[in-house]
This record gives sequence, C-alpha cells and structure tokens, in this order.
Amino acid sequence: MIELVDVNRHFKNGNETNHILKDINLRIEAGEFVAIMGPSGSGKSTLINILGFIDRGYDGDYQFGGANYKEKSDNALAEIRNETVGFVFQNFKLIQNNTILENVSIPLLYAGLGARQRKQRVIDVLHQVGLYDKENLVPNKLSGGQQQRVAIARAIVNQPKFIIADEPTGALDSKTSQDIMDLFLQLNKERGTTMIVVTHDPRVAEQADRVIHILDGRIQREEVNQHE
Ligand SMILES: Nc1ncnc2c1ncn2[C@@H]1O[C@H](COP(=O)(O)OP(=O)(O)O)[C@@H](O)[C@H]1O
Ligand SMILES: [Mg+2]
Repeated sequence: MIELVDVNRHFKNGNETNHILKDINLRIEAGEFVAIMGPSGSGKSTLINILGFIDRGYDGDYQFGGANYKEKSDNALAEIRNETVGFVFQNFKLIQNNTILENVSIPLLYAGLGARQRKQRVIDVLHQVGLYDKENLVPNKLSGGQQQRVAIARAIVNQPKFIIADEPTGALDSKTSQDIMDLFLQLNKERGTTMIVVTHDPRVAEQADRVIHILDGRIQREEVNQHE
C-alpha cells in the first residue's frame, strides 16, 4: 500500500544543509501494524510527516496505492490527507476551547458533511472508543487517557486507510497506555486500519507485527514479531 523508494530528506539551516533521512526504502502493506523506534532526533517524525502527506520536500519516491503524490498541488494533497490518514499525537492536540463534539467533527467539516450527519457520526465513533455522553464537555474535563480516546475518535471519524500515531502513549501511565494500545489493535483487527506507531516503549512495540528501528536517519534494522 505504502512504498518509499530511496527517500532522502535534507533541511537547510543557514548555510548548512543537514541530511536527516538517508536512503529510506520502506514498504507497508494494507492491514499491517508497524512500530517505529529510534532515539530522539533520529528522524522518526520527519519520516511520518512524509508518510502522512504533510511534507514532500524529500528526494526519491513515495508511492501510495499505486500513485505518486509529489506532483500534486497543496490543496489536492490536503484533501488526500484528510481522506486517507488519521493522526494521533503524544499531547493529544485537542482544541481546548471546543467541545469533544466539535473536536471530533473537524475532519467531517473538511469533508463537507452537514451538522446532523456530523453529530451522528461523532456519537457513533465516540461509542467505538469507549466514550459515552461526553460530547458536550471540553477536553480538560477528561483524563489523559480519555483525551487520547477523543483524539483517536477524531483520527478515525473519516474512516482513514491508515493511522499515524507519534508517541501516542508517551504521556500516559502504563495501564492507560495498554488501554490505548488495545484500541489500536482492535481497529487494526476489526476494521483492517493500517497502523504506524512511533514509540519509545518496548511493551508497545512488541505488540506490532513489525518494528522498524531508525538510527541517524537510516533504517538500521527491522524485526518481525511472532504473536501466538
Ligand atoms: N522542519 C525542520 N527544519 C530543520 N530541521 C528539522 C526539521 N524537522 C526536523 N529537523 C531536524 O531533523 C532531525 C530529526 O528530527 P525528528 O524527525 O523530529 O526526530 P525524532 O522524531 O526521531 O525525534 C533533528 O535534528 C531535527 O532538528
Ligand atoms: Mg519525533
């Protein structure tokens, strides 16, 4: 489904150019659950920004579903992003002055749905992530784990092909982390949503199908996890 071919990413810093991603070749199949690990600064977020159609200042090719996205306009790319990928972040990135309903509705606004349809879809998806009767609250009335569930609801409300999660359990205790991981595993199994999860936590990574280790901007090694 996803394929990076000889991808390199440089960033200009004054007169210097920093080579951040180096000769990345990566395939991710539909339905896979992939973890990405590596030290801070190794290029993980840079990599997922490319995968998530946020950044295309790279050299090399990104093929998604047989198409190449490098030549698309910014608007076309934003539309593809909204239809194709859901994002989940360490610090949830919810809008604190908006209700849960409004937060989870955002991708549907871009998709052009009317208010009633939006509300129904949001309520459905909040049930799927185990949140009931919370839609009129603002995020800071919820625990960290519940806020991450709201962020996951927002990520899945458009039924994306894949989810990119950047350290989704980094701000959560271990029990809550596992609850979030269970939700990701369920989405992967039941809906077939492809999962790409950046993590420092080996207990999270060991539950993925495959772990990609990044070091200094290179894929250092990959391991396939055997689950019983
Ligand atoms: N937009 C940018 N401009 C300049 N340098 C960047 C930019 N994004 C990332 N970098 C640099 O790329 C390196 C890798 O960053 P990042 O991908 O965020 O690492 P990680 O997510 O693994 O911690 C860092 O040295 C960072 O400073
Ligand atoms: Mg990062």
